Amino acid sequence: MQVVNSKQTKVFITRHLPTQLTELEQVAIVEVWEENQPPPAQILLEKAETVNGILCFLTDPIDQTVIESAKNLQVISQMAVGYDNIDVAAATAQRIPVGHTPGILTDTTADFTWALLMAAARQLIPSDRFTREGLWKTWEPDLFLGATITGATLGIIGFGRIGKAIARRAQGFDMRVLYTSNHRCDVHLENALGIEFSTLERLLEEADFVTIHTPLSQDTYHLFSARQFKIMKPTAILINTARGQIVDPDALYHALSEGQIASAALDVTEPEPIPMNSPLLTLNNLIISPHIGSASRQTREKMANMAIANLIAGLKGETLPYCVNPEVYL
Ligand code: GLV
Repeated sequence: MQVVNSKQTKVFITRHLPTQLTELEQVAIVEVWEENQPPPAQILLEKAETVNGILCFLTDPIDQTVIESAKNLQVISQMAVGYDNIDVAAATAQRIPVGHTPGILTDTTADFTWALLMAAARQLIPSDRFTREGLWKTWEPDLFLGATITGATLGIIGFGRIGKAIARRAQGFDMRVLYTSNHRCDVHLENALGIEFSTLERLLEEADFVTIHTPLSQDTYHLFSARQFKIMKPTAILINTARGQIVDPDALYHALSEGQIASAALDVTEPEPIPMNSPLLTLNNLIISPHIGSASRQTREKMANMAIANLIAGLKGETLPYCVNPEVYL
């Protein structure tokens, strides 16, 4: 184990963290970027050049230039499960371990996905607006008719931790569940969850609700484009709490405005934040929340603590508890 000299060890945290920094301050001089907006690229580059550790978020592009100029950098610790903002290959080439925060946000993100699914199915947001605008004059037999959730067919794209947590929730709603993934899970789990492995094509044809839980990669970039929307049912509802770039925003606009699908709920957009002149914002059959899937008080605190634990381990030269590129230790 490497001895850390807190007088020399420096870390940069790119945003205010929802936890205490006491433990970290015992091993390093800590600088926190306290602005509401993430540090500009030039600041990120300058800080990276001088520090031993960076604790960052999905809003920080930790690209090859940043990594290669970071001569003293021993660890990159991301407070998120996804890490597509980090050039992991460049970090690995420099033998810099990259940490992330898997597991602890699974249920919170699945809960929020479920909230979006239910809100979209039952027109929760437009009906709230309607009430506040004073339009509720009487009970009506066909006011805000939505989609039935119980017993419907749910399609899950990507079957990692969050995809599985969604399948567990679907059991409580007696849903038929199709899933698609690079790896088919074992038959015991399929039977226990009552789920069926499917091609993407069949899932899109048959699902009443389609929910995305796959990481962003070259393979999943714009996985949802014009062709996929054409295959979906006109009554289908799409939910995305994974990464915005998985859904082509122009194709989604056309699908929603031309009735190729019924509605959508997004916690993530391309780009983020969504530009205020995006045509998507003119649609009533779309819910958009500002990337808050894991945002419960308890979960965000646990994520921050896990990111700090990864950071401290990296500064001490120990193996990160949650490392995305363990090959740096080979
Ligand atoms: C949030 O999007 C995360 O990756 O944790």
